Amino acid sequence: MKTVRTVRDLRAALSTQRSAGASVALVPTMGALHDGHLELARRARAENDVVVMSVFVNPAQFDDPADLAAYPREEAADAELAVGVGVDLLFAPPAEEVYPPGFSAWVQLDGPIVLSLEGAQRGVGHFRGVTTVVTKLLGMAAPHRAYFGAKDAQQARVVRALVADLNIDTEIVTVPTVREPDGLAMSSRNRRLDPAERARAVGLFAALRRAQQMTSGGERRAEVILVEAGRILAEHRIAPEYLALVDADTFLPAGTVGARSALLLVAAQIGDTRLIDNVRLEAPPSVR
Ligand code: PAF
Repeated sequence: MKTVRTVRDLRAALSTQRSAGASVALVPTMGALHDGHLELARRARAENDVVVMSVFVNPAQFDDPADLAAYPREEAADAELAVGVGVDLLFAPPAEEVYPPGFSAWVQLDGPIVLSLEGAQRGVGHFRGVTTVVTKLLGMAAPHRAYFGAKDAQQARVVRALVADLNIDTEIVTVPTVREPDGLAMSSRNRRLDPAERARAVGLFAALRRAQQMTSGGERRAEVILVEAGRILAEHRIAPEYLALVDADTFLPAGTVGARSALLLVAAQIGDTRLIDNVRLEAPPSVR
């Protein structure tokens, strides 16, 4: 595996294989790799000829400077893990390569998919930072496919809207969330949890799983599902920033779980660590 730090070197490294017709995958990450990222890379490896992984802690998407400063940076360990899953090229640019002096081409979407939930909690700058850096990474690597985790469900939806609206010729692949054995969604932030916080954090998935059980049992009413999921969060002393049932496509509140796919999403601060998770809720065919 080769590591490159400039767009010029990235393009040069890809040019021969691209001219020979090879398919190129991009796995965008902010590093501190865990099995969730590695699953994206494994899937990319299985479906493409060349796999590029970007490792860039994007300052533009952090609303809180302390969160940006605390974000783990461990490129050497990331490189070893990336080699292990067959990444061909690691793109680890310095901030000036992505945002040179005078940079002003921000990419900003509109509507509930960017304004609700994460957008409302973290401010409009968050998704503006994500859509700007993703547009740039897609422009830099020009991949045939790019891989995103389902844990960041709203981000994945926003990225799909981005490539559709800007006619970017990259297929967006969303890969299911990878979980710890007790259900906690893998996240680079989990390592910041102390043992007591780690024990409480399982409440996030416990609440979501309970909602899944309820919908499999025929419950469709959002208010009933949200009260019960909220009760499970409270049992784990988790006060959510949001716990919401939304239409998976529009991100508008869903009153019921019906034939259209709905997402139940949660965000919460556990100690100093902010975690998010979600599950898809579907009504069984018999109650649609
Ligand atoms: O999901 C992430 O790690 C980031 O938001 C991404 C997509 C790499 C953009 O910085």
